[in-house]
Amino acid sequence: MILGAPPLNPPAPLPVAEHVAALPPWVLLAYLAAGVLFILALRGLSSPATSQRGNRYGMIGMGIAVVTTLATQAPIPPGALLPQPTPDDLRILFQILAAIALGAVIGIVTARRIAMTAMPQLVAAFHSLVGLAAVLVGWAAYLNPEAFGIVVPALTTVDGDLVSTRLARINPVSRLEMGLGIAIGAITFSGSVIAFLKLAGKMSGAPILLPLRHVINLGTLLAILGLTAYFMTDQDLWVIATLTALAFLIGFLLIIPIGGADMPVVVSMLNSYSGWAAAAMGFTLHNTAMIVTGALVGSSGAILSYIMCRAMNRSFISVIAGGFGAEAGAITDASKTDRPWKRGSAEDAAFLLKQAENVIVIPGYGMAVAQAQHILREMGDFLKNEGVNVKYAIHPVAGRMPGHMNVLLAEAAVPYDEVFELEDINSEFAQADVAFIIGANDVVNPAAKTDKASPIYGMPVFDVDKAKTVMFIKRSMGGVGYAGVDNDVFYMDQTMMLLGDAKKMVEEIVKALQH
Ligand code: TAP
Repeated sequence: MILGAPPLNPPAPLPVAEHVAALPPWVLLAYLAAGVLFILALRGLSSPATSQRGNRYGMIGMGIAVVTTLATQAPIPPGALLPQPTPDDLRILFQILAAIALGAVIGIVTARRIAMTAMPQLVAAFHSLVGLAAVLVGWAAYLNPEAFGIVVPALTTVDGDLVSTRLARINPVSRLEMGLGIAIGAITFSGSVIAFLKLAGKMSGAPILLPLRHVINLGTLLAILGLTAYFMTDQDLWVIATLTALAFLIGFLLIIPIGGADMPVVVSMLNSYSGWAAAAMGFTLHNTAMIVTGALVGSSGAILSYIMCRAMNRSFISVIAGGFGAEAGAITDASKTDRPWKRGSAEDAAFLLKQAENVIVIPGYGMAVAQAQHILREMGDFLKNEGVNVKYAIHPVAGRMPGHMNVLLAEAAVPYDEVFELEDINSEFAQADVAFIIGANDVVNPAAKTDKASPIYGMPVFDVDKAKTVMFIKRSMGGVGYAGVDNDVFYMDQTMMLLGDAKKMVEEIVKALQH
């Protein structure tokens, strides 16, 4: 496979570090191209209109990174462009390709089967695998450092005391990277498993608050940092084993006190951790693509966590410290209040919608549960044909994951130019004839603006109270939103409660519109 004449005697394989240094320039260029494609992918994913293109960039970038990494695992003789694999290399390559194919089949089947509402727990489950992979790679490098090219060369070997009896002496800097990678990976793994169990309802979403948890957590974190530093001077098995065990424990301890409402922020934060774990491992493996990708995942996850916290008016520190979901336990049962409210029928709604000039639709979690997005788009199309101006307003934390509503509306082929973010449309409610709330609740709750005691106080919400008429679709007066609080919008003079499943209710409205 070498370009040019093959050498008469194939050269002996180089140790990995030297092998990396001797790589032909196209390898670094390929990694650079992969890095640029990942950045373009992130940029594309920032808007539904460009998200498919973004996904494709990401896939091509990953394809380039995987092929380049595989190609450079076999020795590339000096001056040659391509590797000269031995039968052993080919056998290992076959094993790797078989593992990739198996993983791809599992990934494709899972992604196709999963319901949109179960996406957060799927993401949490996938992150746990990234964390576990970082732990396993770290341990593989520890147990077989020669294969990773991270052994201190014989000439610079220092005193015998520090040298493990079983293992070659590992470069102290590689030990630091390895320790950090394993620690972050283990935290990501156990934290993501708890996040998955909570989101999938296999474990109570309520925060589990251990006594003295802050002291225990801080102590464990300090012990992990101390051990990582000590690992640089002593590579004995007990150090790395204790480090790994403590990191698994702290991942568990950090996530159990966090309540269900904060879990998506946690998932995004764990996503960020998994990126940093991959970047640390990239240093150990001398793999540029892994460092770049890890840093991109790490920083974008951190930025997303910050944006989500801001949209929910939660401080990042208080989310991490845990305990928010405790308030969600104190659910106010709206059905028990005796405040007057008005119930409307699908026919009433259809009549008012036909008369309207401007309608703003506010979708929320209930629309996702009912899968009402397709019939909602049909209703919007019908109204537009009647000359009504229809817009869709999306709150940054509507639903249960970032972009949840955007994805569903895009799936139902709602045109992107009819979909608006909170800050772009909030001023238009004063001119709206109808605010059509479908399965949303917390994101339209005025308590966020007025009630300092409310768990959602400070979260920006839609000013639906300014619209002439408010139509509110939900199944019952007793059902509350994620924050578990009553909503004054139910009882406003201009509000018409349309009680029923969102999909069925909109189907009835469409039928009534057609008559
Ligand atoms: P929620 O406040 O959770 O309200 C959902 C509403 O949908 C409820 O009023 C519920 O009432 C109704 N509903 C449920 N199933 C329905 C169905 N089949 N048909 C009709 N209605 C149905 O939703 P939201 O306004 O979208 O707010 C999202 C909440 O989740 C916020 O508190 C936000 O902070 C939190 N959260 C979001 C995220 C992200 S990133 N999106 C992350 C973390 C937390 P009934 O039970 O009476 O039907």
